[in-house]
Amino acid sequence: MKSEGFGKLTTGENTTLYTLSNEQLTITVSDFGGSMVNLWVKDKQGNPVDIVLGFDNVSGYEGDDGTYIGCNVGRNANRIHNAGFFLNGKKYELDKNEGTNNLHSGFNPYSKRMWKVNSVNDNSISLFLFSPHMDQGFPGNMDLTVTYLLEANGLKITYDASCDEDTVINITNHSYFNLNGQGSGTILKHKVKINADSFIPVDTNSIPTGDIGNVSGTPMDFTVSKAIGKDIESDFETLHNTGGYDHNWCINNYDGTLKEAVVAEGDMTGIKMMIFTDYPGIQMYVGNFLDDIKGKEGKVYNRREGICFEPQFYPDSVNHENFYSPVCKANQPFHKEIIYRFE
Ligand code: BGC
Repeated sequence: MKSEGFGKLTTGENTTLYTLSNEQLTITVSDFGGSMVNLWVKDKQGNPVDIVLGFDNVSGYEGDDGTYIGCNVGRNANRIHNAGFFLNGKKYELDKNEGTNNLHSGFNPYSKRMWKVNSVNDNSISLFLFSPHMDQGFPGNMDLTVTYLLEANGLKITYDASCDEDTVINITNHSYFNLNGQGSGTILKHKVKINADSFIPVDTNSIPTGDIGNVSGTPMDFTVSKAIGKDIESDFETLHNTGGYDHNWCINNYDGTLKEAVVAEGDMTGIKMMIFTDYPGIQMYVGNFLDDIKGKEGKVYNRREGICFEPQFYPDSVNHENFYSPVCKANQPFHKEIIYRFE
């Protein structure tokens, strides 16, 4: 384990970058946002390749204008229609930070706060955030811990939380992957398989219509591995609405246990990543809105040069009775896992 300065915030506060390694991979994590800054895995020749987009120092993360690169997104990831919901008969209002809707919980994201490093060693780091009652508009005082754990062939991210009132908890990792190496260009030739027979159709504001769509015979079908670019320009309404893949897939046979959600492969490196999660859904966002982002090591990130796989409850699920509920009961443990395994 190594720790080093990651730069000063505009407040003058110092930040730290932690590096953890095992034989297969190396990650770096910042105490600002608890964000994952680098993830090096080995390609076919055994050369380390950094497969996540990011910034060289904390200023990039502090100044980030809505990409959420490498972030932990909470208390609720994705969109909430009309920036509001009812819980136990009470109306809660959130920031309207995308038109009249709420995206990734609003103007004061967890990714722009200092997290407290609770423990760190050679293969794991745990960071803690306290989110007080009505923070971002959500009820209840919540304790949240994110743990990054290096395993023999991958990385496990765990979210543990508890809250003193019933609340919405839907926290995910928002890393942009490029399995050919960060800053190496388009991800359109990456091959992806998603273990999902259905998906969540959305309208022109990326808000779920409430239907559950069948992927069969549509460009949303990733049940058999295919290149991201293969059907991305197809004439299909919900795909037009979002300007490319930016949807939630419903992971088959969800029962609260870990399931393999995604297998993705970089066409240039042959790096293969499998994602497992115990969330019911996975958002695949192919970086449609990336535009001239000045990233690590002089690289510039543009449209479709990174791909997010965000395990989560379906978008706006708090407002849909036919979606799995993201409500966590008072004083009940919240525990979710995301595992990235490499070949
Ligand atoms: C959403 C995109 C959004 C991106 C950055 C993703 O999780 O699905 O629509 O543009 O986050 O905010």
